[in-house]
Amino acid sequence: MHLKVKYLFVFFFFLTVCGISLYSCKHDPQPVPLPKPDSISLLKPCDSTKTYFVNDVMPYINATCAIPGCHDHNSPTAGIDLSSYEAIMNSKVKGKPIVVPGDPINSKICRVLFLLDLIPMPPLYNFPIPVEGRDRIVNWVLEGAKNDACEYIGDTSRFMYRHDIRPLIYKYCTGCHFGDYASDSILLVTYDQVKYYVDKKKLLESITGSDSVVRMPKGNAAMQPSEIIRIRKWVESGAPLN
Ligand code: HEC
Repeated sequence: MHLKVKYLFVFFFFLTVCGISLYSCKHDPQPVPLPKPDSISLLKPCDSTKTYFVNDVMPYINATCAIPGCHDHNSPTAGIDLSSYEAIMNSKVKGKPIVVPGDPINSKICRVLFLLDLIPMPPLYNFPIPVEGRDRIVNWVLEGAKNDACEYIGDTSRFMYRHDIRPLIYKYCTGCHFGDYASDSILLVTYDQVKYYVDKKKLLESITGSDSVVRMPKGNAAMQPSEIIRIRKWVESGAPLN
């Protein structure tokens, strides 16, 4: 009798463990393993001389490359899935990894950004990765292509459109919101287009998350708190073209 109870206990314990693991699989919403907002403060502050995958690289890839029909998890064109760190590191072209840590020249992910093989990525009709983003990707490979993140403590006293806001929109948003196939037909390229969504109370709201607007950037970590503060200050000051 005593033994039976013991077996029953073990059996139910096993069931519970299975249940918990199934439950957590189903509720895994993000393709990228990213810090939750409340754990972000546990990260080390960013060292401005280094490049971090989560902060500096993935936002560009998420907005420009890992999009439906290109290299997201469901449509990995040419077998290349760029939707997460693991997927990027496991992607190969002709059997060769697209990222060779420490060696950007032999890393396809860098070569395509500089037309070294005459195949431009993203293709010409897409929004290109801004120069700053390309530099970040090259430096990330050069520094060993690690999966790391940091807490970015940016200067929030500056929030000029051209200098501070537009680079953030280009980094996090424009890749998906550009051209004929823009997500949701929403364009975020020119000042007027961005301002249109500020006036519709959708720009800041989509970034900070509100009940009535889908949270952006879709499929990736939220912007860093200090980046959001800059956008908020700019919007609250009337979103000028400065
Ligand atoms: C990976 C692609 C992708 C990125 C990156 C992205 N968006 Fe979106 N966005 C979408 C899609 C797709 C929709 C349509 C809503 C949906 O399908 O959930 C959308 C919808 C929106 C909407 C309308 C939301 C609503 O509920 O009306 C706004 C505003 C928006 N995006 C702004 C942004 C901003 C600002 C950024 C950058 C911080 C951004 N998006 C980054 C794909 C993206």
